[in-house]
Amino acid sequence: MIRAIYPGSFDPVTLGHLDIIKRASQTVNELIVGVLNNGGKSPMFTVEERVEILKEVTKDLPNVKIMAFSGLLADFAKETESKFIVRGLRAISDFDYELQMAQTNRKLNPNMDTMFLATSLDYSYLSSSTVKEVASFDGDISEFVPEIVVEKVREKVRERKLQKKNG
Ligand code: COA
Repeated sequence: MIRAIYPGSFDPVTLGHLDIIKRASQTVNELIVGVLNNGGKSPMFTVEERVEILKEVTKDLPNVKIMAFSGLLADFAKETESKFIVRGLRAISDFDYELQMAQTNRKLNPNMDTMFLATSLDYSYLSSSTVKEVASFDGDISEFVPEIVVEKVREKVRERKLQKKNG
């Protein structure tokens, strides 16, 4: 039984993330998408909302499980008995950080390894922040995120603008 974790903030999940989830789920028995519950960042979506969205967009992938986690990824891997961490590499600029993270994680949990997938060319420029930035100026994000996410992001942008207006 080979179980892997694909960790991230997923605020929100993009088509680039989904591409990695689909491809990684074909290489392992079970893929856990680990949604970071990080009090430090101020996310657009709550961790519960991010988990719900991910459940919806992966509902056709039977070996994909969505779980929130906080604390160290190395500990989450131990708790879930996961052998691999999956990470997508978008560009050479990702490499330094990813290598450092993989090596630190392996030091913290020697039973675990990191598996890298090259992000599809179509999505190599994409990030969740870009999506939020484009949406905040009412730009079209339908080529960046799954269909159900488009309206959810727009709703959040509307809420934020209203909050700002009302002080
Ligand atoms: N397609 C589209 N976007 C992608 C992508 C892909 N294939 N891969 C990454 N991205 C985007 C992400 O959406 C994110 O965008 P944002 O910064 O605008 O939100 C950005 O690229 C960076 O992604 P990532 O490096 O995965 O950051 P993250 O915040 O999503 O996840 C964790 C980081 C959760 C993996 C890491 O912080 C962690 O493990 N934390 C737990 C604490 C811990 O163990 N720390 C020690 C680690 S050494």
